[in-house]
Amino acid sequence: MKLTLEQCTIRPWRRDDAESLVRHANNRKVWIALRDHFPHPYTIEDAHTFLDSVIDSEPATLFCVEADGAAVGGIGIRIGADVHRHTAELGYWLGEEFWGRGIMTDGVAAFTDFCFENFHLRRIYAEPFANNRASARVLEKAGFAFEGRLKNNVLKDGKLLDSLLYARTK
Ligand SMILES: CC(C)(COP(=O)(O)OP(=O)(O)OC[C@H]1O[C@@H](n2cnc3c(N)ncnc32)[C@H](O)[C@@H]1OP(=O)(O)O)[C@@H](O)C(=O)NCCC(=O)NCCS
Repeated sequence: MKLTLEQCTIRPWRRDDAESLVRHANNRKVWIALRDHFPHPYTIEDAHTFLDSVIDSEPATLFCVEADGAAVGGIGIRIGADVHRHTAELGYWLGEEFWGRGIMTDGVAAFTDFCFENFHLRRIYAEPFANNRASARVLEKAGFAFEGRLKNNVLKDGKLLDSLLYARTK
């Protein structure tokens, strides 16, 4: 799998991504927008553990976002089970020095198309925390529809937050 976009490439993770992964993932501003299973601080051991878990996993659902020749972010889906087996949750993050250039808007749009083409999915959704306007904007620009506000859905960094539900369907 390789999606070559104007400003980034989405491709499988490699073991030699570890150092760049730590450099961009070890950032509280990234962590604050993600689930707590994303470590903070993000150590080289965390990177190796993550890479060991994704490399050779079948089917591959988690991918590297490469820009300027280095691993600077991640994007992936988690496919549902049982009656939700045709749905998937989308997640993504990008190193702070690359924010605001349209990279993730393009990445989310192209990766969602790829997922609809390559998995038996009828719905791909994302749940940004309500204070994450940049992520909500990315989803809107990538063709996701706003479906609602989930009140008190998230407890992050000691704060109770709403989350926003966005989806694209096929
Ligand atoms: C959210 C994130 C992926 C955005 O990636 P990005 O490549 O910088 O996004 P883009 O440049 O494609 O688009 C960002 C949009 O949000 C807007 N934006 C950025 N900060 C904003 C803010 N504080 N309020 C409102 N809009 C904001 C930008 O102006 C842009 O919209 P525009 O093109 O209409 O001007 C990136 O900031 C990130 O990784 N954050 C931490 C992790 C995260 O939030 N992951 C998503 C979890 S759901």
